Amino acid sequence: MIPLIDVKAQYAPLIPQLKERIGEVLESGRFIFGPEVEGFEREAAEFLGVPFALGVANGTDALVLSLEAMGVGRGDEVICPAFTFYATPESIARAGATPVFADIDPATMNLDPEDVAAKITLRTKAIMPVHLFGRPAPLAALAALGVPIVEDAAQAFGAAGIATTGVCSTFSFFPTKNLFALGDGGLVACTDEAVADRLRMLRFHGSLDKRTHELVGTNSRLDAIQATALRVFLPHLPGWNAARREAAARYAELGLGDAVELPADEAGHVYHLFVVRSPDRDAISARLKEAGVASAAYYVTPSHLQPAMQYLGYKPGSLPETERAAAENLALPMWGGIGPEAQRLVVQTVLAAARVAA
Ligand SMILES: Cc1ncc(COP(=O)(O)O)c(C=O)c1O
Repeated sequence: MIPLIDVKAQYAPLIPQLKERIGEVLESGRFIFGPEVEGFEREAAEFLGVPFALGVANGTDALVLSLEAMGVGRGDEVICPAFTFYATPESIARAGATPVFADIDPATMNLDPEDVAAKITLRTKAIMPVHLFGRPAPLAALAALGVPIVEDAAQAFGAAGIATTGVCSTFSFFPTKNLFALGDGGLVACTDEAVADRLRMLRFHGSLDKRTHELVGTNSRLDAIQATALRVFLPHLPGWNAARREAAARYAELGLGDAVELPADEAGHVYHLFVVRSPDRDAISARLKEAGVASAAYYVTPSHLQPAMQYLGYKPGSLPETERAAAENLALPMWGGIGPEAQRLVVQTVLAAARVAA
């Protein structure tokens, strides 16, 4: 069986180092905040090229806390894609604001800046692009619209050119992400000191000293054991991402593009997922399953059609390119270290399935 992603293949060589470093945390007895969390925040900020980085409990909290720290709330609108994980618009609603969905560019499956421009109103307080599947969203074109940006970078740690445009950029360290923890974890990269200061308080009950509570916040912390694992993994991330890019190039070389539409390559793309498109998606997926190859269709019901978002009034047909991508996309096996043999089987099976479907 070829899985969609083999996380353990990536971290297995690092298990001895993880045991040693986590052992040190056990000896220290310091599990919340402390030197490991501060160390990871420092190293992540340097890696991303931002002045501030704050660990939080997960990527969803990172989004909600970013909006709150920027003062986005009731009565405000935030424009985001609907072709994304549901946490993107959910965070906007959790912050008390209204998600406004813009359509995607079919060539990239990222936000279409023209449709975003058409949806800006006097209430628009932020644009929340998603670097979907590891491909950087069109930040320059979105920034030119003059609205503050929150980058949902959950799927894109290590992608080129991200995290320095947004006031906040958020990351998830869910174990399948390009940079991952051994459980849940998240991070906010921030380019604005006042926003970073508010976020630091919001993640800890609105307080800096545990005595005076200046804001109504929450409890959302990255813990020391996760920070330790992230510090072990971060130096390996460029190599893992390079291996993903090599695997993406290999899929093209093996002729996969004869059967399905390949994701157009661009230098900054880190292929969190390798997502192809085909009108015969379901037939191809079924054939792969028979051959022992995992595949997955993502966001089949896009966010604007989710039951919880019906109050916003979108209908099938509201976002045509989003809905087409939802019907056609298929993620194929991808991780840092997937080998040519596995990829050859994937490609042969997809080619055979496409021939039957044609
Ligand atoms: C685009 C996107 N945004 C937000 C999240 C939420 O992150 P988490 O699961 O860490 O809360 C995820 C991942 O799960 C995601 O893929």
